[in-house]
Amino acid sequence: MNVLVTGGAGYIGSHTAVELIHAGHKVIVADDLSNAKAEVIDRIETITGTRPAFYPIDCKDKAALDAVFAEHKIDAVIHFAAFKAVGESVQKPLAYYRNNLDSALTLLEVMEKFGCRKFIFSSSATVYGPDNPYPYKEEMPAVKSTSPYGQTKVMIERIIADYVAANPDFCAVLLRYFNPIGAHESGLLGDDPNGIPNNLMPYIGRVAAGKLEKLTIFGNDYPTPDGTCRRDYLHVVDLAVGHLKALEFAKDKTGVEAVNLGTGNGVSVLELVSAFQDANNIKIPYVFGPRRDGDLPAFWADAEKAKTLLGWEAQYSVEDMCRSAWNFAKNA
Ligand code: WQD
Repeated sequence: MNVLVTGGAGYIGSHTAVELIHAGHKVIVADDLSNAKAEVIDRIETITGTRPAFYPIDCKDKAALDAVFAEHKIDAVIHFAAFKAVGESVQKPLAYYRNNLDSALTLLEVMEKFGCRKFIFSSSATVYGPDNPYPYKEEMPAVKSTSPYGQTKVMIERIIADYVAANPDFCAVLLRYFNPIGAHESGLLGDDPNGIPNNLMPYIGRVAAGKLEKLTIFGNDYPTPDGTCRRDYLHVVDLAVGHLKALEFAKDKTGVEAVNLGTGNGVSVLELVSAFQDANNIKIPYVFGPRRDGDLPAFWADAEKAKTLLGWEAQYSVEDMCRSAWNFAKNA
């Protein structure tokens, strides 16, 4: 298939582009490089031997998207391009709603114009919000997130569901990611945020590389076995393969499906730090600090639906995630 990957130079998008190319699909990347580097396109080519077509465009730019669809016969779209910093979204809600909603709407309008009916959406476990019990199951109400960022995912899921209801020949898969970490085995692709990382694994990577002095663990008085938060960490390559499976599923289907992509296991912050130390033989100095606003004590996926519907199951271990994350971070 000819697959448009928006945000294809980003962390998850680039790994997905690699898996798509390996599977024989033609990849067209649209990425405005607002939080990614152009050299990622070169690296995708180095890994796969195939250079994806690349358009440095903003998905809110309808004329630019139109030109991409006019040039390539796009069979399916995987939509990653979005602002994704939870804390920043609390400070700049309008920027988040404008960017994330406008991009998704513009993309759907252009898809409609060109008769493209397969859509894979980058959603998040944050759509389950603070009120659902874990493990999270897809049929639980996903109507309230804890941040404007998360709320854009709730709203776009709703927009897509309404669109599918009005267009029964359309197929959309809403992939709800848990906590992707790790990197491509080549060490060429990984999570390399600008500035000081907000997320745990890139922060640990910078501490390991000596670029940051120590990790602050946000809270050790949660009602969890070791007092630190538990999350469902999954390898980004597993996550990328999940997109491939979703695409294969959508190929001859219609309707909308929400699917969790996680391992089904909870791992605490202390356990992840310890796994990183053991996997890489590096000490990570840490201190305990106060809780971070908006963090939930624990959540993980019920991973059954991904298995039965998409035939997808996470393959990599926490050790693999830690080893590959360091293999990338030490050269980043
Ligand atoms: C994991 C754990 C922190 C940094 C967020 C978004 C979610 C998704 C992924 C995507 C938590 C603790 C972290 C640090 C720490 N977004 N931590 N010290 O918050 O589970 O999920 O990112 O686009 O929507 O909410 O991930 O990696 O930030 O935190 O102790 O310096 O690590 O408190 O328990 P989170 P995270």
